[in-house]
Amino acid sequence: MTTASNKLDTLLQETRTFQPSEAFRAQANFNDVSVYERAEADPEGYWAEQAQHLTWFRPFEKVLEWNPPHAKWFIGGKINAAYNAVDRHREGARKNKAAIIWEGEPGDSKVFTYDMLGREVDKAAHMLTKLGVKKGDRVTIYLPMIPELAISLLACAKIGAIHSVVFGGFSSKALRERIVDCDAKVLITADAGWRRGGLIPLKQNADEAVVDTPVEKVLVVQRVGEQSGAQMQEGRDVYWHELYKQVPNTPYPAEEMDSEDPLFLLYTSGTTGKPKGIVHSTAGYLVGANTSLRTVFDIKDSDVYFCTADIGWITGHTYIVYGPLSAGATVVMYEGAPDWPHRGRFWEIIEKYGATIFYTAPTSIRTFMKWGTEYLEQYNLDTLRLLGTVGEPINPEVWMWFHEHVGKGKAPIVDTWWQTETGAAMIAPLPGITSLKPGSATRPVPGISAKVVDEEGNEVEPGNGGYLVITKPWPSMLRTVWGDDERFRNTYFGKFQGIYLPGDGAHLDKDGYFWILGRIDDVINVSGHRIGTMEVESALVDHPSVAEAAVIGRSHEVKGQAITAFVTLKDGVEQTPELVAELKQHVVGKIGALARPEEIIFTAELPKTRSAKIMRRLLRDIAEGRVIGDTTTLADPSVIDSLKTMYKDSE
Ligand code: WTA
Repeated sequence: MTTASNKLDTLLQETRTFQPSEAFRAQANFNDVSVYERAEADPEGYWAEQAQHLTWFRPFEKVLEWNPPHAKWFIGGKINAAYNAVDRHREGARKNKAAIIWEGEPGDSKVFTYDMLGREVDKAAHMLTKLGVKKGDRVTIYLPMIPELAISLLACAKIGAIHSVVFGGFSSKALRERIVDCDAKVLITADAGWRRGGLIPLKQNADEAVVDTPVEKVLVVQRVGEQSGAQMQEGRDVYWHELYKQVPNTPYPAEEMDSEDPLFLLYTSGTTGKPKGIVHSTAGYLVGANTSLRTVFDIKDSDVYFCTADIGWITGHTYIVYGPLSAGATVVMYEGAPDWPHRGRFWEIIEKYGATIFYTAPTSIRTFMKWGTEYLEQYNLDTLRLLGTVGEPINPEVWMWFHEHVGKGKAPIVDTWWQTETGAAMIAPLPGITSLKPGSATRPVPGISAKVVDEEGNEVEPGNGGYLVITKPWPSMLRTVWGDDERFRNTYFGKFQGIYLPGDGAHLDKDGYFWILGRIDDVINVSGHRIGTMEVESALVDHPSVAEAAVIGRSHEVKGQAITAFVTLKDGVEQTPELVAELKQHVVGKIGALARPEEIIFTAELPKTRSAKIMRRLLRDIAEGRVIGDTTTLADPSVIDSLKTMYKDSE
């Protein structure tokens, strides 16, 4: 846990605490601290109570069945996630309330009331049915941040199909891998997507991805039009707007799902090369998502909730689609980049729609800081009453900047620690109760039990680093890894019996606050996105010139971490700047732009211990400029030898 202790210093610089203001406390959904004790004394009772905020077709008979590591929640219940997110609001006072306010990157916008959204979901449900999709089938979704993305998720949920969203920034190879792993029958994509005025060739990627896969039909949303150059394949491909005209305008009856029926899969990176299909259940996930909006995000009917994540990640699933919609909120969904066409885009959107809650990533805030306050000063942000961050630890100085310049010193910040696997925020403040410490995600939310333990599973003293663990099951926990229950058991429950291991290091302070210190495994967190070092290494060694590669995450001012790849070339291959560019591109082609190495350092050999383990700490120190000034000297094997002696017994 070297990285952990290194980070401690930077995390502990800010010592002020911030109490909820009286005004905030008075209006908060949760302002009585006893909720923590109640939930701890009877977690099942607490979760059963939260589950009453959803509409059930049939009530559950039993709250929990726990056969570690397998949990079943809300047993015997029948429920539908799309019904809860959309249809139930159509029947009441929210019928004509804005559900999704969508802002396109080029400046176009659309508003869907709950009733309108419901109609679109019904249409899409009919379309999927017409394409042969049935309950339990997998549908892969590879779309830009357009309304059809949210509609597709909800349509799958409505008919009981399992959606698997693949972020639009992934390459065709990565998409293919994810289609094959879950045997998707249908792929939903777009002709292309907009990004900073340019085009992302989604359809072209999709065409390459689906060859020789179980995909029978490709449903194509026309986002860009002719300019996209998208080609349609007769018999396989069908345009969304054309099929739309062929299906009825009638309501689609929501499939009555068992609580434990899977709602979706979402692939995430792990220690080994192959991404894991994280499986989430219908009822448990939805209870987790809905509860989180009411507790951590203090959601009210009057809120306009703006989460800047892409629906291709878990944050978008929970905090754009299922959470806020199941709570009947108004959600702002933005298609594009924060700096397109100008650096005030997020602030412009907040002002335009009067956003009240703004949820984003520390890496974005660091970028805004770098740009300076001039961009946000041009807009009125007074409507903001609550801010949130997710994805990585937030540096206290970044927290303070967010607090002062975006929250104008009055909006609490909820720093939410969670993961794809946990479904919803696990360690986070309740903004009407919790005193905030910049840089700390504070304490587990009610109903969640977390600890910091040592190698043997014993709790560590406050101030000492250890493994963050979750000691009790919770409704929105992952149920398994798609097609690989053994991997599920080993990865998350292999180290400590019956106790969930998230893979993060943490320490507790004397007040019981959790300080997350980052990953303890071979996962790099680049701009809040998880990338497995093995994935990038496999992509590099796949290149004909590469003999061996080692990838590490080095600290980066804006991205949190950046990917540095150490590469040894095959004999006779020359080290040229062109080859560096080619190798970076090779990784982009294999995985996607998010995995592009920031730098590639050629080395005569990789430094290894006597037991042949790559000395990653040495590599990290080289990448961060701590041991040598000029990395070109690594071409000389004797340099590596002398460096190794400095690190003799480590790693
Ligand atoms: C990291 C994103 C510190 C952590 C929701 C975790 C955080 C991984 C925080 C999950 C936070 C997320 N403070 N670290 N508030 N939130 N992380 O699956 O390392 O994309 O394990 O889920 O992000 O990333 P994932």
